[in-house]
Amino acid sequence: MENWVRLCATEAARAGPHRVVVDGTGLVVWLAAGGRPRVFADRCPHRDARLSAGYVEAGHLVCPFHLWAFDESGHYVGPDGVAVPECAVARFPVRECDGALWVRLAPAPAMS
Ligand code: FES
Repeated sequence: MENWVRLCATEAARAGPHRVVVDGTGLVVWLAAGGRPRVFADRCPHRDARLSAGYVEAGHLVCPFHLWAFDESGHYVGPDGVAVPECAVARFPVRECDGALWVRLAPAPAMS
């Protein structure tokens, strides 16, 4: 897997949002609905809090400070559940292989 960096065992993300630092970049690894792994920058776009200190609720990653929620594409959706496409967290491509999660540090293309 050229250009992919091993982040952690998949099991580490099952317990909740998990912080990993790669090349000085803080990332949060978490599992969306159906156990789909997601990797975001570990900085809330509201006031830069660590999203890894938050929790997963209804398939969304929730920041613990003011409860902004983000869907699996990184878009702000909460707390009222209304998406705001122009407000999003940087998301990175992630793969699962041999019980571990791998990231490529180029940001993922925007999801609609
Ligand atoms: S810092 Fe994340 S919601 Fe305010």
